[in-house]
Amino acid sequence: MAATEYREEQMTGRITGLGSYLPEKLLTNDDLSGIVETSDEWIMERTGIKTRHIADHMKEVPSYMGGIAAQRALEDAGVSASEIDLIVTACSTPDKMFPSMACYVQKAIGNDGCMCFDVSSACPGWLVAFNTAQCFMESGNIRKALVVGTECLSNYVDWTDRGTCILFGDGAGAAVIEADETMPANKFIMHATSNKAECLTCESRMQPDRWEEEGFLKNTYFQMDGRDVFRFAVTEVPKIIKELSAKYEFDLNDVDYFILHQANARIIETIAKRLGQDIEKFPMTVYDTGNISTASIPNLLDRMKKEGKLKKGQKIVMSSFGAGLTWAANYIEY
Ligand code: UT7
Repeated sequence: MAATEYREEQMTGRITGLGSYLPEKLLTNDDLSGIVETSDEWIMERTGIKTRHIADHMKEVPSYMGGIAAQRALEDAGVSASEIDLIVTACSTPDKMFPSMACYVQKAIGNDGCMCFDVSSACPGWLVAFNTAQCFMESGNIRKALVVGTECLSNYVDWTDRGTCILFGDGAGAAVIEADETMPANKFIMHATSNKAECLTCESRMQPDRWEEEGFLKNTYFQMDGRDVFRFAVTEVPKIIKELSAKYEFDLNDVDYFILHQANARIIETIAKRLGQDIEKFPMTVYDTGNISTASIPNLLDRMKKEGKLKKGQKIVMSSFGAGLTWAANYIEY
């Protein structure tokens, strides 16, 4: 098990492989209208979500789904598991507190010895994992990395709360990134503010001394002020994308795609309008996946690749937002 060779020259990673996993079981808006007082019309109008994939909770746990997405990304890249130097996984709903989800992904792909760890940053977690892997790569310490996002959000949904249960789904997405001397440096911005932390929270259930505390168990499911999160997203995402274009001196009109966190079609449409960009540049999967948190961006990229929409050299902005509050944006060359 040799340590990866250290290289003096700075190299940035290019995405060379993509993979995803979505559970077979679908939950439609009509199904939801049998659970809470809602309707297909209301959900479609306010969110653009029609269906979401729901995991078989005994089998399709985040470590399992992440492992399959990673295997598919390796196959797509034509890279063998033993070539991977680093696995970074983003997951807000892990099935084990430890070992990390990354260690389970390592086991699933059949690697032994590479660096493995998770990052925690809610929905922007996959971008945080991507940027972490890029920093390892640009320091000359790794050449090939797997960046994974995997979630079983349906375990944390309060199925009596119509304000949240309509939004979330389960799934995983992964990318292989490989050091490439022709790549420009990784360009990113990440922000957080804890001033509005309470508008999107989920308490850890494993605090038995608090189980009798009034309202505690309810708080171990997603608690969200939807309007606050909506306002935050449509204000801060356009701002961070403009900040990114100013920092790295590129023109938003030259961007081929804006790959945004798939939380709500209305949020994406508002952001497109505020950036003065054609909605055609904002591909979406939210219609049939719902919000799958850290898995949403790699899942969307994988689908675009399968549909033949991704071409080497395309200029892509990726941006995500979520609990913390945290938000991030990247400008990459595909
Ligand atoms: O990864 C980030 C995660 N979070 C998000 O992205 C959430 C961002 N926020 C949103 O997507 C939207 O705020 C929601 C879709 C959650 C809600 O849409 P909204 O337009 O902000 O609705 P609202 O919360 O202002 O509620 C309007 C009305 C309320 O009724 P009253 O008080 O006006 O009588 C709600 O009780 O709609 C009612 N309502 C519903 N009605 C039918 C709330 N949820 C539902 C529902 N079906 N599912």
